[in-house]
Amino acid sequence: MTDIERLAKLDDVARKFILKLPPVAPIFFYSNARKLFLSMLSKDLDFPEQKVPASLNQKIWGIDFRSPIFNAAGMFKTGVGYEMSYRQGAGAFLAGTTTNLPRKGNNQGLIWHPFVAYHQSRSASNWMGLPNDGHAATAIKISNIEKKSGCPIGASIAADTGIDENESLKGVVEGCEIYNKAGADFLEINESCPNVVGHTASPSNFLDESLVSRLVYISEKFLKKRNRNLPVIVKLSNDTSENLIPALVDMLIELEYDGINFGNTSTNYSLHRNSIGKLDLQNFDYFTSTFGGGLSGAVLKQSSLNLATLTVEYIGKKNAHREFNVIRTGGISNCQDVIASKDRGIKLNQWFTGYFDAFAKFGHTLYSNMYQQL
Ligand SMILES: Cc1cc2nc3c(=O)[nH]c(=O)nc-3n(C[C@H](O)[C@H](O)[C@H](O)COP(=O)(O)O)c2cc1C
Repeated sequence: MTDIERLAKLDDVARKFILKLPPVAPIFFYSNARKLFLSMLSKDLDFPEQKVPASLNQKIWGIDFRSPIFNAAGMFKTGVGYEMSYRQGAGAFLAGTTTNLPRKGNNQGLIWHPFVAYHQSRSASNWMGLPNDGHAATAIKISNIEKKSGCPIGASIAADTGIDENESLKGVVEGCEIYNKAGADFLEINESCPNVVGHTASPSNFLDESLVSRLVYISEKFLKKRNRNLPVIVKLSNDTSENLIPALVDMLIELEYDGINFGNTSTNYSLHRNSIGKLDLQNFDYFTSTFGGGLSGAVLKQSSLNLATLTVEYIGKKNAHREFNVIRTGGISNCQDVIASKDRGIKLNQWFTGYFDAFAKFGHTLYSNMYQQL
């Protein structure tokens, strides 16, 4: 067992007690401990390389993904962690999200990048505010990765906020170009971070005009000028209204996007409060009323499945003229979730909150444990 595996197990036991303290204490603790943990994890290579059954491999957009599951954006923000993910058996590696200008992220007083886990509910809240080193610094790291077959590299990109809209859009296109040159295999446009002022959560009841104009701009300035196979997908919120799926898919295919990801965290606190366990309610109420932030984990399992399923069904009916794939993110925590996706024609899944629960249980064998049952 490596040190980080031991630490995860220890935390799994201690967490129940730490989370009972007055909310500000666990939030302060986990907001800091999470970053330290991730930094150690992403560099931990002292474990045997795990096997991935060849039967799990699938070609999507002409790219081999050796399995249907990999990390969601935000886990390896700085682009470090490819080798560790590959050794664990991940189906791909997703770096970022990055913005053109480096960002410090959110703080309230001494609490930087607020985060708290809801242990009983297998869920979490975060109000990070997209801290990152910027496209250029992260892309350099990606260009130095020794890529392995079946484990493609993706980069998640978002627009800068708080600056002129045109400059911000130019920054997104610049990001696409920088990661293109760095050798990324696919790009994910993060259109759904609820934690930065100016990034609206994706549209709830109508196709938001500014979302459409951003997507058109990226299409004109980058997608239609691509000179190699570089799929670009759009990540939207798990709060997206199901009624919007036909209009969204029609628009994205028309604009030459290659897929959609449902999705990002939720800000529908009143809906999800019903699924939060009694032991977690104190922290839930404190966090959502103090910071707001996005909800992740088991509370999103159903919405991600519904949105991704309806999208696959719509694409099937539409008989689209170009390959367009759906990624499911939200509440994935075990093989049953990946099987549920597969049964509905969803070929790729990403996980974040569930990854850490699985890591506490299985350590670096978390993927191989899942693959035995797929
Ligand atoms: C601490 C934290 C940081 C995140 N950072 C990002 C990010 O930088 N970009 C992004 O697109 N999503 C980010 N997310 C959202 C996740 O990628 C994912 O969409 C969401 O957590 C739902 O998946 P899950 O239920 O498996 O956690 C973050 C989530 C968490 C919990």
